[in-house]
Amino acid sequence: MDLPGTTGITIVPTGASLGADIVGVDLSQPIDAATFTAIEDAWHQHLVLRFRSQQLDDPGLLRFARRFGELDKAPIHAKGEVEDPFPEITVMSNIKIDGKPTGNLGNYEAEWHTDMSYNELTPIGSVLYALEVPPAGGDTGFSNMYQAYASLPADLKRALVGLQCKHDSSRNSAGELRKGFKEVTDPREAPGAIHPLIRTHPATHRNALFFGRRRNACIIGLPPNASEDLLDKLWAHATQKRFAWYQQWKVGDLVMWDNRCAMHRRDAFDPNSRRLMHRTQIKGDKPRFDPATLAA
Ligand SMILES: [Fe+2]
Repeated sequence: MDLPGTTGITIVPTGASLGADIVGVDLSQPIDAATFTAIEDAWHQHLVLRFRSQQLDDPGLLRFARRFGELDKAPIHAKGEVEDPFPEITVMSNIKIDGKPTGNLGNYEAEWHTDMSYNELTPIGSVLYALEVPPAGGDTGFSNMYQAYASLPADLKRALVGLQCKHDSSRNSAGELRKGFKEVTDPREAPGAIHPLIRTHPATHRNALFFGRRRNACIIGLPPNASEDLLDKLWAHATQKRFAWYQQWKVGDLVMWDNRCAMHRRDAFDPNSRRLMHRTQIKGDKPRFDPATLAA
């Protein structure tokens, strides 16, 4: 749809459960307040936005992302040997120079997850910009956790009210043990933050299922078997194809997702092809559940 009164951007929903293209904006140029508001509103409505054919350098990427809030420093790398060009930019790449990785996450599959949910403050979103893409594979999936929550049976929704989940911080989304962390044998002993299973989005006031990663997660106060059973059931529900949309990358694509109400994952790709992305992350808040949302 065209938005009268703005600088002429068009919002084209993917037709799937989430995601929309924003057409008609050059992110390397200053963005006026009306256009920014239209983009932010579209982000809240569609959870994932894609801007194609952009030509951004790192300062341009940072300038755009900073419109949404303060940016996080890059997270701890699994192998601890990658250097990022700016403190707020993480290089996501499988490219090696002289046998050494130049980026994070390699070419493996990354399972469904929420970024950095093992921290007390979790990022509100991330911005990912494609510089090199493989000819096939490496697609990024996004999944709508508002819809996952809304489509639960009413009795299960009621049962989740007040439940909290521990989010293991020891492994990254490719399952690699982070530098300096020990193997977890009992999820109850895992390091990581505790957050409500139902999260109320502070801007939209809508409720979403809020997961981090399945591995080593546990629900506080439940016996281990009951925690595993409930988490398995919820994850099986939340990772259904009907809640997902997949981004097939082209060079110049900028994709931003709302980490408070969307999970993401990545397909593996041929290790002999090159994939290079720069990512930056918008500083977060403490996940909360607002019981008033159930009163209506
Ligand atoms: Fe991620």
